[in-house]
Order: sequence, then structure tokens, then C-alpha cells
Amino acid sequence: MTCTVIAGAFWGDEGKGKIISYLALKDKPDLCVRTGSVNAAHTVYFQGKRYALHMVPGAFIHGNCRLLLGAGANIHVKQLLEEIRLTGVEDRIGVDRQASIIEEKHSIQDKTSAHLKGIGTTGWGVGPAIEERVRRTAKLAKDIPELKPYLTEVAEEVNQALDKGKRVILEGTQGLLLSLFHGTYPYVTGRDTSAAAICSEAGVGPTRVNEVLLVYKAFMTRVGAGPMPGELSKEEAVKRGWFEIAAGTGRERRSAPFDFELAKKAAKINGATQAAVTKLDVLYPSCKGVRTYDELPAEAKQFISEIENRTDVPIVLIGTGPRPWDIVDRRK
Ligand code: IMP
Ligand code: MG
Repeated sequence: MTCTVIAGAFWGDEGKGKIISYLALKDKPDLCVRTGSVNAAHTVYFQGKRYALHMVPGAFIHGNCRLLLGAGANIHVKQLLEEIRLTGVEDRIGVDRQASIIEEKHSIQDKTSAHLKGIGTTGWGVGPAIEERVRRTAKLAKDIPELKPYLTEVAEEVNQALDKGKRVILEGTQGLLLSLFHGTYPYVTGRDTSAAAICSEAGVGPTRVNEVLLVYKAFMTRVGAGPMPGELSKEEAVKRGWFEIAAGTGRERRSAPFDFELAKKAAKINGATQAAVTKLDVLYPSCKGVRTYDELPAEAKQFISEIENRTDVPIVLIGTGPRPWDIVDRRK
């Protein structure tokens, strides 16, 4: 059995979708559980198409992978049904009976509540939906007729799969620095985003996890308000080619150089056993499309070594472009 948790290191948008898309094709997982909610968009390029997935697990591109949304997830019914249609996964997706529901009113509250002003939330309503869940008044997946065909017990399915020696990916969303507990509070999302929380949302105990794969991006980005050490001006970000527009909300992302201290903190709190670095080709254009470590330029290798030395975590996957196979895989 292998149970791998995929967690983000910074403020989300590290390229978890890209890493998961590669693992889906290469490792052929039997099961992938997505946690979190609709506020996060995971970008997956597959067969000439680009998907910005807010609900469906990123491993959908491996046709034999069972796709699940855990009990800790918050379901946006309309978005989920639309993505099921777009990805054609109708017959292999399941939603935990106890996952909670985000309703239109939560989105309105997200955009108009005084206490959320200034945080720069995504506006999807995730914070208010979680508030409602904590009040014990939330609707659950089992209360929604359209979800009936998909209802399951995710914890049961995942633990059984692990008992049978199957390959499981637990897909985290966002990043450690947006964690309600460990992030830059109050400029955070409404839940913990660490590896432990990802397990908890899926219903998998910590002793069952084999690998925690932490995803770094070669530079940092952030959308919404809150501190960001080393932040660049938009002009400088554009000049360096780091300027990005958010996959989910269309908002401009702030950017800053890779911060080794923050990287170390993320490695520690996630208990990372290995890490990925995405977008190395944005930092060093000659890396574009490279698939072997030896072919990387010396300065890129030096950057990778420095991350390894400062975090004490081996970098096993290096992203060199947006498509699944644009990657250096240093795993045995
Ligand atoms: P909320 O999660 O919509 O409540 O937003 C809270 C903060 O987290 C805001 O700064 C958002 O921009 C940020 N955030 C939430 N989800 C994501 C994500 O998937 N990527 C990047 N930032 C996010
Ligand atoms: Mg994203």
C-alpha cells in the first residue's frame, strides 16, 4: 500500500494540479481523495485541454482512478455537477454522505460580511459555509437529491483500499501559509491546510500515511491580503515573468522570491518526506521541457540543492512546464 498526501507549502497555487496530473499518469493511483473546497482551483493540462478544477480530484486523467470528496470537504453542488460533466467521471466519483454544502447565501455572506472585509477571500462562500457547519446547522451531502447517485462513505472506502494494498493519493488544497492554525492569521482560509488536516478530512489516520509530498513553486505567489516577505512590485514581477492571474478567480497574484525560512517551516509542520518544485522553467527558461536532472543548468541544480539543504527534504519532482510529462522525476 502507498498512501501519499499532497500538500501546498505557501499560499496555494504552487502547482499541485500539475504534480497530481503527473502522478496520476505515472503511478496510476487506484483512488484519489480531494479535500477542502471550491475556493481552490487545480490546473490540469491533458490531451490538449486545460482544466481548472474546483471540485473534481486532479487524478481524474487516470481513467481507472476512483475519485472521492471526503467528509471534511465542502461541496458546491452546481460546480461539482458541471465538472463531473466536463471531465466525464460520472461513473467513478463519490461524495461522502457527511460532506457539507456551500449554498448561494454563503457566497453572498462572504462578499458582504463586515468581519471578512479586507481579507480578500475568493468570494465562493467557504468561510461562511464552515461557520454554518460549526454551528451544526449546515446541509450535508446526504440532504441533496442531486448528489444521491454519488453518496458513499469515503473513510470506509479509503481505509479498505489501503487494507488491500492499493495506491491512494490524498489531495490537499491551498498551502500551509493559508492555514487557519499555522498561516498568516487573520489572512487565512477557514480551515487547516496542513498534511494532518488533509488526512483528517479524508478520514485516514496518521499511521496509514507513507509519504507526505510537499509542493513548492520556484517563486512565491499570493492572492488576497496579508503579509508576504520579499514582495515585488507588479512591474518587477512582469519583468521577471512571474506575474500570474489566478486560475480560479481571475485576480492578479502578488509575487516574491522563494523564501527558504518559510519553506523550512512548511516542511516541518507538514512532516514532509519529499518535495516537488514547480515552474523551475519560469526561473530558468533553459529548463523548459527538460526531463532529466543532468540536463538542468548548473544554477538550477544549485537552487534545488539549496532548498534540499535548508529544508532537509529531498526534492524528487521538478516541474519544467505545464503539461504532466514536463517533469524531472528523481524517485527510485
Ligand atoms: P477564502 O478561502 O475564500 O476564505 O479566502 C481566504 C484567503 O485565502 C484569501 O486570501 C484567498 O485569496 C486565499 N485563498 C483561498 N483559496 C485559495 C487558493 O486556492 N489559492 C490561493 N489563494 C486562496
Ligand atoms: Mg489554485
